[in-house]
Amino acid sequence: MEIKEGLTFDDVLLVPKYSDITSRSQTDLRTKLSKNISLNIPLISANMDTVTESAMAIALAQEGGIGIIHRFLTVEEEVEEVLKVKRSASVMIENPYMISPDQSAKDAMAYMREKGVSGLLVVKDSKLAGILTHRDVIFEGESNKLVKDIMTKDVITAKPGINLSEAKELLREHRIEKLPLVDTNGQVKGLVTSKDITHNENYPNASKDKKGRPLVGAAVGVKGDFMERTEALLEADADAIVVDIAHGHSENAISTIRNIKKAFPNCELIAGNVATAKGAEDLIKAGVDAVKVGVGSGSICITRVITGSGVPQLTAVYDCAQIGKKYDVPIISDGGTRTSGDLTKALAAGASTVMVGSLFGGTDESPGSFVMKNGKRYKIYRGMASFYAALGRKSKETGTVAINDDLNDYVAEGVEAMVPYKGTVADIIKQLSGGVRSGLSYCGAHTITQMQQNAEFIKMSRAGFAESQPHDVDLM
Ligand code: XMP
Repeated sequence: MEIKEGLTFDDVLLVPKYSDITSRSQTDLRTKLSKNISLNIPLISANMDTVTESAMAIALAQEGGIGIIHRFLTVEEEVEEVLKVKRSASVMIENPYMISPDQSAKDAMAYMREKGVSGLLVVKDSKLAGILTHRDVIFEGESNKLVKDIMTKDVITAKPGINLSEAKELLREHRIEKLPLVDTNGQVKGLVTSKDITHNENYPNASKDKKGRPLVGAAVGVKGDFMERTEALLEADADAIVVDIAHGHSENAISTIRNIKKAFPNCELIAGNVATAKGAEDLIKAGVDAVKVGVGSGSICITRVITGSGVPQLTAVYDCAQIGKKYDVPIISDGGTRTSGDLTKALAAGASTVMVGSLFGGTDESPGSFVMKNGKRYKIYRGMASFYAALGRKSKETGTVAINDDLNDYVAEGVEAMVPYKGTVADIIKQLSGGVRSGLSYCGAHTITQMQQNAEFIKMSRAGFAESQPHDVDLM
């Protein structure tokens, strides 16, 4: 039996090359998520229930990456998370929330709260009758007034097709925040808000769909409702569907990919996880638009401990990337990224993007509340195959589940953990992107593709690794 060598991030370094880069701003982090989707930075937040719901996905898209909504939600809940991302920013809102003038102020308040918006268009007989904003209803919670009694009737509107700078000028001139777009028949065709215009100016690097809305992906499994879930997510305009199972080089994954691609040929489909060239090739042949690579590399994974299976992450990425290059299908490195150095090495080894879990856990945007330990704030971060994540999923599927309910034979392949509170994910992304930009410069590269061409890895000894860490000093 031939035993192959497998390496991971701490086994290697990138050999420094001559660089003509004089400032990190000369580097370009644009990359491909999948065959037809581009990102401005190579970062994806993991489809985990302690990492990515709408808040994380919005933040990732603002910075130029993408978040993948996890699937331990009901179909309706997952769709709602996608819709929240899509509605969080746009050039123009196509279907603004509307209310009838005959509804009560109380109903209007409840509807605004439910949808997380600060204004509603008032529409009667399909025509714009007025506008209702948060200010109009703020003290009407206990009153019996109707929308028509408190709405603003003389609404400043514009014609559909107005460009953004004209819209901005109208908003400025009239000191208003919302500009409904109304056609010659008085029908509402859209809405431009000052929030969206400011948002576009504040996040010039944001990753957006064709309508100027944030990009977002969503995960599905390979059993049960996955077809119905995919259909609902695509209807909500999810930009990519991620078929996510622990052992992606399997009949289950391949038949799921085929079924989804057959039913939804235009769906941008990502699948994984695999850890070998053959695994990547089989998924590509089944029709995927990107392959997710990583078995047992994640910080909370115990797959290698429980099953003895896996491939050290750098070798897995490198092997899969050779196949990805052959078929022109991007590779995602998923799991085991602890530093911007690891991120740079994964990209240099051939990944187009990197999926991150623990690094983004414990942020303001990660789901879950804080827990305190020794006076410090933490957030729970757990494997999706951990016992408690499985419990959460089962209770979603069946309504309720008791702790000892038929999960006794569940073999967990992930652990429950905590990560310290870290502030906003935007700050972490800045640090990671900055590190990768410097990494590109050390490789004498302006782009990720150039770095992949220039990259020369050197294997290091234990002494080399020790030398790479801060040493012989007392850390503050
Ligand atoms: P990091 O290292 O970024 O890894 O925290 C995140 C990735 O870990 C994978 N994942 C799991 N792997 N058991 C596993 O073997 C699990 O319970 C589990 N949960 C998540 C997943 O690929 C994620 O993106």
